[in-house]
Amino acid sequence: MNKFKILFVISAVAIGLMGILIASINEGKKEQAQINSVPKIDRWETRNEEFRKHYPRQYDSWKQTEKSDDIDDLLKEYPELVVLFAGYGFAKDYNAPRGHAYAVEDNRNSLRTGAPVDEKTGPMPTACWTCKSPEVPKIMATKGDAEYYTGKWSKYGSDIINPIGCVDCHNPNTMELQVNRKYLAEGLEAEGKMKLEDATQQDMRTMVCAQCHVEYYFKKTPNPKGGTAVAVTLPWAEGTGVEDMERYYDNLDFKDWTHKISRAPMIKAQHPGYEMWKTGAHGKNGVSCADCHMPYKNEGGVKYTDHKIANPLDDIASTCMNCHRVSEKELTETIAEKKARKDELHKKAMKHLAAAHLEAGKAWEVGATKAEMEPILLDIRHAQWRWDYAVASHPAFFHAPEETLRVLATAIDKAGNARIKLAKVLAKHGASDYVAPALTSKKVAQEITGLPFKQLVDDKKKFQKGLLKEWEKDAQEKGIYNPSSTKSIEKLKTSY
Ligand code: HEC
Ligand code: HEC
Ligand code: HEC
Ligand code: HEC
Repeated sequence: MNKFKILFVISAVAIGLMGILIASINEGKKEQAQINSVPKIDRWETRNEEFRKHYPRQYDSWKQTEKSDDIDDLLKEYPELVVLFAGYGFAKDYNAPRGHAYAVEDNRNSLRTGAPVDEKTGPMPTACWTCKSPEVPKIMATKGDAEYYTGKWSKYGSDIINPIGCVDCHNPNTMELQVNRKYLAEGLEAEGKMKLEDATQQDMRTMVCAQCHVEYYFKKTPNPKGGTAVAVTLPWAEGTGVEDMERYYDNLDFKDWTHKISRAPMIKAQHPGYEMWKTGAHGKNGVSCADCHMPYKNEGGVKYTDHKIANPLDDIASTCMNCHRVSEKELTETIAEKKARKDELHKKAMKHLAAAHLEAGKAWEVGATKAEMEPILLDIRHAQWRWDYAVASHPAFFHAPEETLRVLATAIDKAGNARIKLAKVLAKHGASDYVAPALTSKKVAQEITGLPFKQLVDDKKKFQKGLLKEWEKDAQEKGIYNPSSTKSIEKLKTSY
């Protein structure tokens, strides 16, 4: 073969390859254009799978939140929790969060939501659906907030079906990010630092998450059409720090429940993830939730946002490494160290709190007076709120390491104060030798606190075989549920 022939063959191959490359770039461009073009989708299309034909990469990555499916039973890991939450739902069932795809499933299966037999029974109000599904903003928008917030949780069993999805964070008419829950705008208004309408695109990459990953309480207000609305409200009027919200709740004399053993008026911290993030190095530097939890991906010339919201450490290269120049090993070691520091104080706080509740129970038993107990119960209330604030805002040890340790330290201080006062009261009433029982397992702790665990599980199983099946059938008839959309998830994966 002469020189020219060789050159000719090489050029032909090169041209061929370029052709393929151009075709694939064009393909990519076509898809990119499709992503940017916004096809017509109904404003309240809550079936996430309906978005797949227009946004396959976003949908497919969203679907992968199903991969985070382990049940992590926190009551089993820390039996003290059963005592800390005695008389309240979290003593029955308390698991670490899983992927967004499980939000509705876990809400139905939690022993906390009980075993309703019709649309008027069950322990929880409708508000318990608020952070679980795109059907929530739909009902709020079409029926009004007061109507959404009135009634029992079971009222919406066949209306709230699809897990956290596209319409929770987007307006399908424009596909722009949108906050679809009014209480967040109201919370920001009350705090008085930033208005939602002034939020930049970068702010919105956090605000969509702050619809749900925040502290809230249920505020009771009369519904003009009858009944009482129990509305999700953000307690931010005094600020978003732990002491600010504590003051807010104290001023209202608010309590979530009365502790079954110590009789302390308790506040349950929900998950002030957004508030904690604000106090950390990333929050202060404007690094948004999406910067770490929803990195950009580049596939075949198509740039899109990865919707598999999970632990960013599963993919350090496309998250942390966008900004940091240390080795992955160094970074993971730093994080493990932060977690170990938190765990040490976390466990100390929990042990003191459990002992304080049990010692207070004993003090009542041996005749302590209300006047003697009041300052002790206030210490317990504040100590537990602070401990809870630091650890329920998962995982604040990473989002805001210093604030987490500070808040835990104040929790230990206050629980310690309660126990010093309790020692005196117990001595005065002749019970100075009282030692709180050891909490060796979830079962032991549930027996000590008198929780009818077996009954709760039996009732729940009846609900799952009965009313729950009817909800799914009704939702299918209403055209909002497609059973094949949940085929790939293992149903009824629980802690019991
Ligand atoms: C928890 C909130 C959240 C949910 C749920 C969500 N998205 Fe997104 N989505 C985002 C964020 C944040 C961005 C990045 C927007 C930006 O920075 O401009 C985004 C971007 C997008 C974009 C713009 C192109 C891109 O990839 O950046 C599309 C299209 C999109 N999402 C589609 C969907 C679809 C389809 C679903 C449902 C299967 C969905 N999203 C669910 C938060 C969400
Ligand atoms: C509509 C409410 C809602 C919105 C909006 C929302 N989340 Fe969540 N998120 C939840 C709930 C509820 C869970 C727990 C689901 C479960 O355990 O079944 C959760 C779980 C998580 C988890 C744990 C996942 C795992 O695999 O363990 C992460 C991480 C997370 N959310 C981050 C975010 C980020 C980041 C955003 C914003 C981009 C966001 N969430 C927006 C409600 C929401
Ligand atoms: C700088 C990166 C970064 C930012 C910004 C960030 N996160 Fe995270 N987030 C992480 C890492 C890393 C973890 C996992 C830590 C661990 O458990 O090892 C995590 C875990 C979580 C979890 C999972 C908890 C669990 O137990 O499964 C939730 C929920 C969460 N983040 C929500 C948020 C929200 C909401 C925001 C914004 C207000 C946010 N994150 C901002 C890095 C970040
Ligand atoms: C968008 C950029 C960005 C991303 C993504 C990001 N960081 Fe950072 N990180 C920063 C900035 C900015 C600071 C503050 C630096 C300073 O104060 O000097 C910081 C500080 C830190 C610190 C020291 C402060 C502290 O809280 O202890 C650690 C550790 C850290 N980042 C870890 C991570 C990890 C792990 C990830 C991935 C999950 C991550 N970062 C993702 C920008 C980023």
